[in-house]
Amino acid sequence: TTETTQQKPVLVGVIGGSGLYKLDNMTHVATVNPETPWGFPSSPITIAALPSGTQIAFLARHGFHHQHTPTEVPARANIAAFKSIGVQAIVAFSAVGSLREEVAPGDFVIPNSIIDRTKGIRPSTYFQNVGIVAHAMFGDAFDNDLIEFIKPLVKKVLDEHPEGSVRMHSEKTVVCMEGPQFSTRAESEMYRTLGGDIINMSVLPEAKLAREAEISYAMICTSTDYDCWRVSEEPVTVAEVVKTLHTNASTSKLVTISILDHLHEAIASGSLQLKAKGAMEYSIITKKE
Ligand code: ADE
Repeated sequence: TTETTQQKPVLVGVIGGSGLYKLDNMTHVATVNPETPWGFPSSPITIAALPSGTQIAFLARHGFHHQHTPTEVPARANIAAFKSIGVQAIVAFSAVGSLREEVAPGDFVIPNSIIDRTKGIRPSTYFQNVGIVAHAMFGDAFDNDLIEFIKPLVKKVLDEHPEGSVRMHSEKTVVCMEGPQFSTRAESEMYRTLGGDIINMSVLPEAKLAREAEISYAMICTSTDYDCWRVSEEPVTVAEVVKTLHTNASTSKLVTISILDHLHEAIASGSLQLKAKGAMEYSIITKKE
């Protein structure tokens, strides 16, 4: 019947970061690999159904085998690929280092602002060499309404975690550095002075491109280490990051499963008005002929 063959809308996209290369306990619906004007996404996109039948899209930011460095992630293709299948909101996951005592390894953080410390070598706009100049508003780097919507849902899952409750922080600032090397102790201390709370290599240009594509975007960060600002401790190593990644990834899967039905429903019914929709309407400064 048309009922079963009809393509269901996929409104929510999930981007998995380090450690989160797939989602479990979902029914595989399709794998798509759209070629965009900016090339192919980091990994093919998995369309999967929750037990309720709600379909979501999943993309592994660094590829299924973690083959793209943070600098090489084809962020324009990733966001364009989600846009092409109708995604309106993105929940992105990322492993982060902590720049604050109160954010311990294993904690979850939903940031509300970003400090850009990438080096300008990542293609970070769709408005380049296209004859149209646009300045997206980025004062609020994430969709605050999307954040407020997911926050209590995430908190509930973390509070009820089967292996003991996991702490969640919000209203934090994420520093996005270029990498791939970690920071020096002096840089780490500088980021703390600047107001950074956590640090990663992945939120940009992803969040900027989502805004340009008018897709609402929020990030759920999982803390893996204390970076290197704590003078009495050894600086962060990959071994330390990977140790916490696995636990964090299974918690992230629980979080995903429990929030996506609510999120999809809120978007579909219009009870959650996405801020990114129409966000670019007044951003184009080029005069029309
Ligand atoms: N991702 C995880 N830990 C990090 C750190 N300390 N610095 C930058 N990115 C990270």
